[in-house]
Amino acid sequence: MADGRLESKNAVISGGAAGVGGAASKIFAREGAHVAIVDIQDEVGAALADEIRGQGGQAFFVKADVSSGDEVAAAMAEVNKRFNNRIDILFNHAGTVIVKSFLETTEQEWDWMMNVNVKSMFLMTRAVLPSMLGKGGGAIVNTSSISAVAGTPMEVLYCTSKGACHMFTRAIATEYRDQGIRCNAVCPGFIKTAHGLRELKELQALGVEVTEEDLCRLQGRICEPEEVANVALFLASSEASFVNGETVFVDNGMLVST
Ligand SMILES: NC(=O)c1ccc[n+]([C@@H]2O[C@H](COP(=O)([O-])OP(=O)(O)OC[C@H]3O[C@@H](n4cnc5c(N)ncnc54)[C@H](O)[C@@H]3O)[C@@H](O)[C@H]2O)c1
Repeated sequence: MADGRLESKNAVISGGAAGVGGAASKIFAREGAHVAIVDIQDEVGAALADEIRGQGGQAFFVKADVSSGDEVAAAMAEVNKRFNNRIDILFNHAGTVIVKSFLETTEQEWDWMMNVNVKSMFLMTRAVLPSMLGKGGGAIVNTSSISAVAGTPMEVLYCTSKGACHMFTRAIATEYRDQGIRCNAVCPGFIKTAHGLRELKELQALGVEVTEEDLCRLQGRICEPEEVANVALFLASSEASFVNGETVFVDNGMLVST
């Protein structure tokens, strides 16, 4: 794996077992990173780490629900041990969606959404920053969404959580820029993952116009997970050395055409 774009980097990927996170785990490892996959799905995550190692890459799996402070602390203690307290890259990708009419959503659902999509970024970033600052820098990539700036009916909680991801990205970049930290976000449209396909199905069931035809009009076609992971790769790599606090849309022109 000589001359990879992430050669000799230690990378942590939350939600790294499947979907875009799974694609990123493979691509980052292919580019020379040693990847820590942190995910709630242990069998899938462990199998992916095995697959990467079987192909000559470096990866290991650690189970955690990244919305839980205790689980993140335990998982990151293990990751720091394996990485000898040196973490170069954090991809905060784990997240989920609730599709429901606003007035039907409960306080528990609000807490769950904010914990999984926003608090997880706080917990994971807080866990890796000391290591990054100790060695003089690091790159953080967060997964936001077009929903951070485009309101979608039946997704008030989700849109609110992604708006927070946008500002978390900008505020971390602002506070830590001069200590060598870059923090950027990828903001996808609809992606062909378990999350994206469920979201489309549930929106359609509630009468929101996201049929295959609508999707073609909005973003040309559905996005492949690798098309988002490749943007995360760029942002995580030194090729993006002067890109900081950015929210990069990966939506094939959906936002600029509406
Ligand atoms: N799929 C889309 O259309 C789309 C569009 C825009 C943004 N996103 C964002 O992408 C992320 C979802 O990823 P995906 O589309 O690759 O879907 P996915 O469901 O295939 O993958 C999500 C991964 O995150 C893990 N995960 C979920 N909750 C977790 C938790 N609490 N702790 C640890 N791991 C957890 C899952 O196990 C899974 O491996 C979310 O942040 C979502 O907002 C998705």
